[in-house]
Order: sequence, then structure tokens, then C-alpha cells
Amino acid sequence: MLLFPASGKPEGIVLLSLSFSYLRRAMTVAKKEIVMSGIRPTGYLHLGNYFGAIRNYVKMQDTYECYFMIADLHSLTTHPDTRELRDHVHRVLAENLACGLDPDKAALYCQSHVPETSELYLYLNMLAYKGELEKTTTFKEKARLQPDNVNAGLLTYPVLQTADIILHRARYVPVGKDQEQHLEMARNFVKRFNHRYGEIFPEPIAFNFGEELVKVPALDGSGKMSKSENQNATIYLSDDDDTIRKKIMKAQTDSGPKEPNSPKPAYIENLFLLMKLVCDEAMVTKYEQDYNQCTIRYGDMKKQLAEDMVRFLQPIRRRAEEIRNDIRYLKQVMEQGAEKARASARATMELVRQAMGLNYF
Ligand code: TYM
Repeated sequence: MLLFPASGKPEGIVLLSLSFSYLRRAMTVAKKEIVMSGIRPTGYLHLGNYFGAIRNYVKMQDTYECYFMIADLHSLTTHPDTRELRDHVHRVLAENLACGLDPDKAALYCQSHVPETSELYLYLNMLAYKGELEKTTTFKEKARLQPDNVNAGLLTYPVLQTADIILHRARYVPVGKDQEQHLEMARNFVKRFNHRYGEIFPEPIAFNFGEELVKVPALDGSGKMSKSENQNATIYLSDDDDTIRKKIMKAQTDSGPKEPNSPKPAYIENLFLLMKLVCDEAMVTKYEQDYNQCTIRYGDMKKQLAEDMVRFLQPIRRRAEEIRNDIRYLKQVMEQGAEKARASARATMELVRQAMGLNYF
């Protein structure tokens, strides 16, 4: 190969310095930590999905090797009717892009487009025990909600989630607080695999930039915001301005504290938490002071919160609507992401099959 003859350097030196720079670049690339996370396409995305997960996806895409996935297989455990699935997949992808994800930085793909997921899920199932799966909080909750459909997929849900994560040998998993137990189970499955077959996988950890994992509460104080339950107390990324205002103005309050510096009831704490997410600090401090001095006017506080929420969500909603109508772009993003995810999955599965002794010749 003739290399930069005009450089004046002998060919060997040029080759050597080129291969060093290639090596350095390769090392920098290899040093990037791997990040993986997923969202089920079971409804409209909401503030919990944004502040628990997507906000971190966007921050992480610049510095980590990122795989973000739409968990269509997981959605079948609770939503076997697939008539709305296509629409939900498009919407989740469009909303992720509208929040600032860049398909040239992060792989954005659909779980079912990476068949290696199912193979790894099968192997991991042999390392997961009925007793521990039955004790999982989300399993118990969903079994209670759908007593006529307590299927095996529901029981092994955390195993499939582990397969999603370790398929890319990911270390960091940006998720909300509700996923903490699934991550703990993932670490247990990984430990078992590594112990039995050799150190293939890092132990994944739930991630939120140096802070506690986030739980965005529902506006009625009845739990967390959710895609398919509690819709009047959940703010969706697709809610229009008036719907946002109405939902916030209806949030539960009371006649205010009677004593200075009283502890806040949960529903008031929730409103402050939402303020901290979208209002500027000075505004939050003002209302904290008003609360502590018993001069707070909840009507004003909710109006402020509603306007800041509208300001925050309006551009995301508008952008998502535009992107959602561009089916060709969505398809192209998804194909590009799946290709990248499949390449990473293939490399991992070679190691897995070898470690497990499934290569016979
Ligand atoms: P899902 O679809 O329920 O939620 C997607 C992400 O949003 C977070 N989240 C919340 N965070 C804070 N407050 C809330 N009210 C709130 N509601 C939802 C979730 O914690 C999650 O990060 N099992 C996962 C999907 C999944 C996955 C994975 C996640 C499948 N494979 C691999 C990580 C890695 C789920 O049901 O998320």
C-alpha cells in the first residue's frame, strides 16, 4: 500500500504512526462504557418516562455507547392484542427522537428485531428459579391486575429484561425507581452465569447521574404516573396545553399548613417535586418559603407549575407530531439501530455459546 508519499517520511514510519493512531482510536472506542435501556410500547409516554429514563438517555448518548430499545416483546406479556402495537411503536420512537435522541449517536431499535435476545433469554431461563420470579413485585402486581392471564412470559419478565441488557454487555441502565428490583435480579442472573460459565458479563446497575433513581408521582397522590393506569393523574408528553393546565389545576391540595415549617402531606410534596423538574430554582424556593411561613397560595403555585409545564412540553409534543408523520424516517432510524444492535448481539452470543460449551466442532 502506498501511503502519503508526499509526507516525506519513509513508508515504514508512516505505517507505524498510522497503526499507533488507529490503535489509540480503537482503544478510546473500546473504553466507552456501554449503556442499555428500554421502554414498553403499551401506551403514551409520560413525565415519569421522561424524567426517570429518557432525560438520561439524551445526556448519556454523547459519552457512552448506547442501546435504547422499544420492548415490544415485553408488551405482549400484558397486551396480547397487537392491533395498536404498530401505532404505539411509532409513537414511542417519535417521542424519543423529539426528546433529543440522535440515531447517529445511540442505537434506537425494536426488541423483536434482534432475535439474539430470545436466544439469550432461553439460556438465562435455566438460571432463574420459580420461587424468586414469583416473589417479584411487578409479577405479583400484574398477576393481580390480570388474573385470567398469568402467563409464563409475565413470570419470566425480569429474565427477558436481563437478556436485553447483557446482550450488549451493558454496565449502566438508566431507569426509574420502579425498575430497581429488576436490576437487582439481573445482577443475580449475571452472577450465576459468570460463576457457572466464566466471566462474560459485567454486573449491570440502575443509573441516574449521581442521584437517587427518580419516581414521578401521579397528580392525585395515588402512586406513580403510568402509561395505562391513572390517566387523569398522569401528564403525557402528547397532552395539549389545555389538558396539561386542567390536570395540574385539578391536582389535590388543601387549605394550607397551619404551623410554620410543617411536614408536607404526600400530595403537596408531589407538586413540589414536579416544580423542581420544570420550574426554575428561584420559583421553587419562593413557594418553599411561602409554605414554611404558612402564606402559600396553592392556586398560584399550580398556575405557575402549569405554565412552566406547558413551556417544557410544547416543543417536544410539536416535534414528536412532525416526526410521527414521517414513517420513512422512522423506518430508517429503526433499521439503522437494529443493525448496530444485531452486530453487538452477535458478538456477545459467540462468546456466550463458546462459554457454555455449545460449540461442538
Ligand atoms: P416502562 O415502559 O414501564 O418505563 C420506561 C422507563 O420509564 C421509567 N418510568 C418512570 N420513572 C419515574 N417515574 C415514573 N412514574 C415512571 N414510570 C416509568 C421506567 O423506570 C423505565 O425506565 N421493564 C421496563 C422496560 C424494559 C427495560 C429493558 C428497561 C425492557 N427491557 C432493559 C431497562 C433495560 C419497563 O417496563 O419500562
